[in-house]
Amino acid sequence: MAEEAILGYLANNEVIGDSGEFAAKHGLNHDEVVNVIKSLHGFRYVEAQDIKRESWVLTDEGKLYADTGSPEAQLFLAIPPEGGIPREELQIKLGPLLFKIGCAQAAKNRWVDMGGQQVTRRVQHVDDRVKDLLLKIKEGQVVDQDDIKALKARKLIVPQTWKGYSLKKGPDYAPQRKKFAADLTREMLQSGDWKNVEFKEYNFNAKGQPIEAGHLHPLNKVRHQLRMIFLQMGFEEMPTDRYVESSFWNFDALFQPQQHPARDSHDTFYLKVPSTTKELPEDYVERVKCVHESGGYGSRGYEYDWSREEANKNLLRTHTTAVSARMLYNLAQDTLKKPFTPKRYFSIDRVFRNEAVDRTHLAEFHQIEGVICDRGLTLGDLIGVLHDFFSRLGMSKLRFKPAYNPYTEPSMEIFSYHEGFGKWVEVGNSGMFRPEMLLPMGLPEDVRVIAWGLSLERPTMILYGYNNIRDLFGHKVDLGLIKTNPICRLGL
Ligand code: PHE
Repeated sequence: MAEEAILGYLANNEVIGDSGEFAAKHGLNHDEVVNVIKSLHGFRYVEAQDIKRESWVLTDEGKLYADTGSPEAQLFLAIPPEGGIPREELQIKLGPLLFKIGCAQAAKNRWVDMGGQQVTRRVQHVDDRVKDLLLKIKEGQVVDQDDIKALKARKLIVPQTWKGYSLKKGPDYAPQRKKFAADLTREMLQSGDWKNVEFKEYNFNAKGQPIEAGHLHPLNKVRHQLRMIFLQMGFEEMPTDRYVESSFWNFDALFQPQQHPARDSHDTFYLKVPSTTKELPEDYVERVKCVHESGGYGSRGYEYDWSREEANKNLLRTHTTAVSARMLYNLAQDTLKKPFTPKRYFSIDRVFRNEAVDRTHLAEFHQIEGVICDRGLTLGDLIGVLHDFFSRLGMSKLRFKPAYNPYTEPSMEIFSYHEGFGKWVEVGNSGMFRPEMLLPMGLPEDVRVIAWGLSLERPTMILYGYNNIRDLFGHKVDLGLIKTNPICRLGL
């Protein structure tokens, strides 16, 4: 309505001098007219200039007198034309406030005589100018400046700033607003209409529609990238779906003595049901028992009585090296039927430890493990492959520190220089599997196995800026965060 009226009027007239008058003349609400002007101005259909006017509005008291008459007129009318009325009676008739104001004003106007016992009329007839003026102001009519001053002094009116616009045609004026097409459609292309259609400009700052889709957890995203790195380096993925392991594969096969503190229930979760494993490869178990008890292959062993019951106990695997042990055993079994082939294996999956949970520790986390099995490998090969692997993660400065694992000799902790933290941080553990582990499996004597392991959580936390592991994994994870996480790329 307002838009049509404005654009239509400007088609035949140069200017709209005053939006207020224009609104009144066309029976439009001025607020609506102002909104339309702002929009038309934004699209350059019109040029608009502010106009401000001081206008006057009635106070509550002013409104009251506009309805019922001024106090002086009311007072005058309350006095009987003949003989007058006692003061007290008049006051009761009008009420104290109206009486007080009325007396003052009526006396000033010389309408009444207050001198004697009785209040009497001095004139026969009065015009209630105050009421008339208030009604005029209410209707927005122009009133003489002296009258304004007087009404303002009596606090019957107050000033109000009125804002409006004067208008003329803008550079893009048209008698009707053009509709811009938001999309190029198949129909436009077919009919050729696209040539005449004006398109809405692209808003490159607009946010896209949120994608209604599944979202990968940061651990899954980093896991995926690590898989890709391993696959590019020619590694095969090991089957890691077995969370429940026997102590045998988790510890004994790895030449970890049965008294080792890590096997304590304070560190490892044992299963109540089923509490023991059903089967183990018996001849291999026998060789493992021997190597623990009395050694062999140039080793003295641990010289203790190895217990089969201890080996049978089921647990939640404490490291993925249990999977590596199974894989190497299978590989050794294969050499009974066909010549040995070198292998590169990797795994990324969950492990469990009976840890006190804190900012950096959970009772379950993920391990990344790489294993290379070939004839004549050396510690130099391990260092070389670690440089290759970690530089693909973006960690090219590495240092190694001698360490101890029951199943590797030599063993090395891996440190990487963290540019952000400005210090060396431990990033993994590695080593060459011991002959006491490999030879009972039946691998050829000159076959060496180099391996390393690290957690998935650590690099993910650094990459995604988490400093509490519980925000990343477990029941406190904020699913909203999973949806809004950026894509962080390893090695960039
Ligand atoms: N299993 C070791 C750990 O849990 C990691 C590791 C894997 C160490 C392979 C050496 C070789 O920390």
